Amino acid sequence: MGSRSAKTLYPALILTGIIFLLAHAAWGAVDCLKCHPEKAQGKVVHPAVQMGCESCHSGVDASTTPHKFTGKFGLSALPPELCFQCHDKAKFTKKIQHPPVKNGQCLTCHTPHSGPYGSLLRAEGNDLCLKCHAEITQKPHVVMDFLPNGHLLAGPSDPVRKGKPFGCVSCHVPHSSDWGRLFRYKADNARDLCKYCHGFL
Ligand code: HEC
Ligand code: HEC
Ligand code: HEC
Ligand code: HEC
Ligand code: HEC
Ligand code: HEC
Ligand code: HEC
Repeated sequence: MGSRSAKTLYPALILTGIIFLLAHAAWGAVDCLKCHPEKAQGKVVHPAVQMGCESCHSGVDASTTPHKFTGKFGLSALPPELCFQCHDKAKFTKKIQHPPVKNGQCLTCHTPHSGPYGSLLRAEGNDLCLKCHAEITQKPHVVMDFLPNGHLLAGPSDPVRKGKPFGCVSCHVPHSSDWGRLFRYKADNARDLCKYCHGFL
């Protein structure tokens, strides 16, 4: 009696053990940060990284090195579609789209993991914009009859967005806008824009 149940019990235990070991050897149980700690280091860490590497890298089998990948880097999709899995696509596809956004180049401006700058940007403040728009600082910007030398482009504080510095993104949005020239506020032309920050117009 005892030996008969042991005969069925032992193979069952061994099988359970094998299944347990297999499950833990698979990617699900691998601590990615043990070997890739820098991906979660820096002043700003993407909340998606805190949710787990698998929230984007669902197709990585890291039980061996080199890993086995399904798709590029084991990503469930490539940007921008990857990003739209969690970020509302409507915010990036308004009437006027910034060309790098339209082209899906999210990673030209952002790092996907972590970094030293706010909003996971690849450069700080106006420097990011000036990588592609260097000409803006070479001549007066926003010239009007009563603004012959143009508007200043940087300052310590944005009068509308409290706590943020004043810069390109005080007047323009980086992704898409319902208004021409990627204006941040409803405006048909330059003059319409002034009232959002100044009482004199
Ligand atoms: C928001 C989605 C997202 C999350 C979450 C994420 N990654 Fe990535 N990862 C990417 C994208 C997109 C790329 C491709 C980058 C490129 O093309 O330059 C990438 C590339 C990589 C690469 C190869 C290229 C490089 O930058 O070194 C490694 C290694 C990597 N990720 C590791 C990780 C680890 C480890 C985690 C968890 C701590 C993680 N990733 C979480 C989106 C993500
Ligand atoms: C035991 C250490 C180790 C663990 C754990 C580990 N990795 Fe890696 N990973 C490496 C090494 C080493 C490389 C570079 C060699 C290679 O291309 O495989 C790498 C490369 C990568 C790459 C980039 C491959 C390329 O083509 O550049 C990605 C993406 C990646 N790992 C994601 C992950 C994710 C996601 C996890 C967790 C599920 C993880 N890794 C766990 C050691 C590890
Ligand atoms: C698995 C879900 C997920 C994916 C995929 C994802 N994100 Fe995020 N991301 C979040 C969450 C959650 C936040 C925090 C809330 C918010 O700002 O929407 C966030 C915040 C951000 C922020 C603001 C960070 C800050 O410190 O202010 C940026 C920038 C960002 N994501 C860019 C991207 C880009 C670019 C991609 C595609 C490469 C991407 N995200 C893909 C979940 C995701
Ligand atoms: C031309 C550079 C640029 C490109 C391309 C770009 N972004 Fe951004 N993104 C920014 C800047 C700059 C900010 C911070 C804006 C601010 O300070 O208000 C930002 C902020 C964000 C945020 C934080 C929330 C918000 O709207 O402020 C998210 C999420 C984000 N970007 C996702 C994306 C995704 C997804 C893509 C690709 C579809 C993308 N970005 C492409 C420059 C860019
Ligand atoms: C990767 C390159 C790149 C970066 C970085 C970049 N832009 Fe652009 N931007 C372009 C291109 C290309 C155009 C279309 C041609 C042009 O007007 O110069 C454009 C056009 C614009 C326009 C005019 C849009 C219109 O419909 O008239 C504005 C405003 C603008 N960008 C603001 C910004 C701001 C603000 C930043 C920083 C957050 C920025 N750009 C960063 C590439 C870039
Ligand atoms: C005070 C608000 C304001 C600031 C700050 C600002 N812009 Fe503009 N920008 C405008 C207005 C208004 C226009 C439209 C000009 C016109 O119609 O005469 C414009 C137009 C543009 C254009 C379209 C091409 C052109 O020259 O007309 C680009 C590109 C641009 N800005 C980029 C930038 C960048 C990059 C920065 C930061 C270095 C910046 N802007 C800072 C208000 C601003
Ligand atoms: C997003 C906010 C914002 C918008 C929009 C804006 N300004 Fe300004 N402006 C500022 C800031 C910040 C300063 C510097 C601090 C101050 O003097 O209040 C400034 C300064 C000025 C000055 C003082 C002179 C100088 O260079 O310091 C004048 C004049 C001016 N702006 C005119 C305009 C006109 C005209 C418009 C519309 C075309 C406009 N501004 C749109 C934020 C803005």
